[in-house]
Amino acid sequence: MSSSAVAPLIVVVGSANMDLVVHASRLPLRGETLLGERFETVNGGKGANQAVAAARLGGTVATVAMVGCVGGDAFGASLRDALDRERIDGAHVHTIASQPSGIASITVGRDGANSIVVAPGANACVSTAHVDAAADLIARADMLIGQLEVPLATIAHAINIAARNGTPVLLNPAPAQPLPDTLYRQIDYLLVNETEAALLTGLHVSGVPCARFAADALLGKGARNVIVTLGAQGAIWAGAQGSGYMAAPVVRVVDTTAAGDTFAGGFAVVRASGASMQQSIAFAQRAAAASVTRAGAQPSIPFRAELEEDSISEV
Ligand code: RIB
Repeated sequence: MSSSAVAPLIVVVGSANMDLVVHASRLPLRGETLLGERFETVNGGKGANQAVAAARLGGTVATVAMVGCVGGDAFGASLRDALDRERIDGAHVHTIASQPSGIASITVGRDGANSIVVAPGANACVSTAHVDAAADLIARADMLIGQLEVPLATIAHAINIAARNGTPVLLNPAPAQPLPDTLYRQIDYLLVNETEAALLTGLHVSGVPCARFAADALLGKGARNVIVTLGAQGAIWAGAQGSGYMAAPVVRVVDTTAAGDTFAGGFAVVRASGASMQQSIAFAQRAAAASVTRAGAQPSIPFRAELEEDSISEV
């Protein structure tokens, strides 16, 4: 990807979690106690991960700001520090003293697959008032990114402000929940995996042909562009400028945590810089592929220079 035509401003409204990660030989079965291999705490949360991805993958030119909440605990301080280190504008990240920070309990198997349960904590406090305080920023942004680890009403409010001001919107509806019909018409880029596509459409979504059906159904609901990511099978996209399929780079998978977040942040920052849909998806796929070769959420997200050096270690 060549250098940007414009220096984009990306605003992320979303969650920040401390990830409590146990690496194990495999994921436990229902009701089973399994001895794990190693434990670590890692900065994560879909909102913060996507902000970090946009900052790292935007190279030196992108400006990224986040709207969110952390708790008044040590995790909250660490999550804030992590944003500061990435030079993400955290002026609209609030500390809610009465709440714990969001945490994610994550198990990662040796095959790189994971299971995640999130306790939202302070993320549940991200409010429409917090969004209103950042309204000018959203109005000036080149892309608003939202996910659903903060209240849907808050995200819908941010999307409304963006839509009124002509700011393009990328929504990654994760974890998935039904969306109001009116919201779809305000979404420029609806980014879903197979599970999310299935929940939003009621269709069985597994593999490329199903993903194409699901994308058409989501376009029918009013989204302007739909991208369905299929992990190692690649991604399909459909929208006003046509549709297509892109295979994913083949890599050795260590940990898939935050691969979707890396895709979202990478896609947003290059698309907002003026790249085409195809260029943006190809770049996001390379970034996501690099992320799965490394452990953890934010530690796994690559920097733009790494991709330019083509340093994804192919199998
Ligand atoms: O998408 C990965 C993220 O999901 C993790 O970092 C975890 O915090 C959960 O939000």
